[in-house]
Amino acid sequence: MLALNIPVRVYCLSVACALLLGCSATGVPPEDEEPEPSLRALAAERGLWIGAAASAGRLAAGGPYAAVLATEYNSVTPENALKFGPLRPSLESFAWSEADVLVDFALANGMGIRGHTLVWHAQNPLWLTEPNWTRAQLLGILENHIKTVVGRYKGRITAWDVVNEAVADDGSLRPSIWLDGIGPEYIERSFRWAREADPDALLFYNDYGAEGAGVKSDAVYALVQDLIAKEVPIDGVGLQMHVSTEWSPAEADVAVNMARLAEVGLRVHVTEMDVRMPLPAGASLLSVQAQIYGSMLETCLAASSCASFTLWGVGDADSWIPSHFPGYGAALIFDAAYEPKPAYSRMREVLQGGS
Ligand code: G3I
Repeated sequence: MLALNIPVRVYCLSVACALLLGCSATGVPPEDEEPEPSLRALAAERGLWIGAAASAGRLAAGGPYAAVLATEYNSVTPENALKFGPLRPSLESFAWSEADVLVDFALANGMGIRGHTLVWHAQNPLWLTEPNWTRAQLLGILENHIKTVVGRYKGRITAWDVVNEAVADDGSLRPSIWLDGIGPEYIERSFRWAREADPDALLFYNDYGAEGAGVKSDAVYALVQDLIAKEVPIDGVGLQMHVSTEWSPAEADVAVNMARLAEVGLRVHVTEMDVRMPLPAGASLLSVQAQIYGSMLETCLAASSCASFTLWGVGDADSWIPSHFPGYGAALIFDAAYEPKPAYSRMREVLQGGS
């Protein structure tokens, strides 16, 4: 089992980190220089959770990863470890070790944790998707899964993406083992089971392509309004924010969307932001990317409902983009060597109140 529950010291573990943090590679800050405040320190001053998706494998691999994660972010989202497939090798078993490593790491470093995700159409194990379960059996499997997972991390995982991507791009409910086998009721049942398992965790509906204006964000808004009308325990909506230098939502549309969710009493978390670009990453695209990160962060900071801003990975070497969008990449704010990119500087400026 991976074990990484020693707090990461917020000093430099490498030359790369030394450049990033403005201190010496020996761990001793230069006497005549104040280190630049980290994103994490600046975000804390603004009351914002600044997060990154992470993996236990990357932590175990060494290098600057752990130090950058703990220094620059105050929130962690397990990228894959809490999904049904990785977590459930069989109906009878749970593979906790990777999720436990990430939870222990976050707590040891004073970070919040976003749990991702309990119910999704993807990354499900074959033992779940292949048999023809009855509706009653599927309800039993899902209830047991949610209550066991949320219950294990009760009081430790701050917020859960309870249901992920239940809405298709045309606004209809997305076909999945859960919709097909249980019906639309799986959504509200999932939230109720999660609340029973941890009454204090914040419960989110999470989706992509619902950040700004359009059919899908209207459908997500209608879905959560319906849940609220049925007194389903939902606390917020996660806006994933997987965008690109070629397209990103208009700031004004995102602001309006965040405001209407706030009006119905919901929080908003930006849950999975990355800004992919066609490779190679040249200076002008890096600059466009920096502007997009900055403008979405500004929009979140300006919205009373938006308290958490998570990026989908620490550095470009960790990103899902190259394997899913051939020819694209460089989507995060640290490069493949964990050196800060222009987007990192832009986010610091925004957190410092600069325009
Ligand atoms: O861990 C296995 C490994 O054992 C195996 O040898 C290897 C062979 O392909 O696969 C590994 O699993 C991969 C896993 O990532 C861990 O690296 C899966 O194939 C791969 O499909 C999986 O991709 C993840 C993807 O979700 C699955 O749809 C990405 O890492 C993850 O970043 C991505 O995250 C999603 C969010 O959960 C929801 N929103 C969209 C976002 C991006 O797709």
